Amino acid sequence: MKTLVAFYSSSGTTRKVGLAIAAALNADVEDIQEVNPRRIDIRSRMSPGQLWKVMRGGGEAGLGRVAGIVPSQYNPADYDLVVVGTPIWNSGLTPPARAYLVRHMGQFKSVAFFCTSSAPTPRQRWRDQMEKVCGRAPRASASFQMDQVDAGTVDVQVKEFVARLT
Ligand SMILES: Cc1cc2nc3c(=O)[nH]c(=O)nc-3n(C[C@H](O)[C@H](O)[C@H](O)COP(=O)(O)O)c2cc1C
Repeated sequence: MKTLVAFYSSSGTTRKVGLAIAAALNADVEDIQEVNPRRIDIRSRMSPGQLWKVMRGGGEAGLGRVAGIVPSQYNPADYDLVVVGTPIWNSGLTPPARAYLVRHMGQFKSVAFFCTSSAPTPRQRWRDQMEKVCGRAPRASASFQMDQVDAGTVDVQVKEFVARLT
């Protein structure tokens, strides 16, 4: 099975999980990049500039905005499965991940989704949003918590997710 793992990551958490999933699946990696990259890390002390970025990012996510992203390296239509990952912003999908799904709508044969967040995401709103935007129900989905990713304790969760994909 030819697999692509595509993710957006602002402060590295989603990238870390995405790379672990890609390694386990021997997949190609699409690191979704904004045309005007913003680095927002909620772990660092919030300067007024950072706080503004968080509010703006959360506002854009809440409004369902799409961000400008650079052209993709890989064509999702060439893959049997595309695993798409996003951080949670304002309880939902980030504008760059949304932009990726919108750009490639109709090119996905099969999809799976994952997210990372600072708090648990019991409502799964993000997953419903991703399904709606790309028009495909995911084969599987999983959410990872930032503190556990930072602590390096998500290996089992990654393995379980990957097992549901193969
Ligand atoms: C603008 C913004 C909004 C966020 N909103 C939420 C939220 O609603 N719920 C939550 O649990 N975490 C929220 N977070 C935290 C991120 O989801 C979390 O830090 C994520 O793991 C970051 O992924 P990254 O390091 O790949 O960018 C928010 C972070 C940012 C920057």
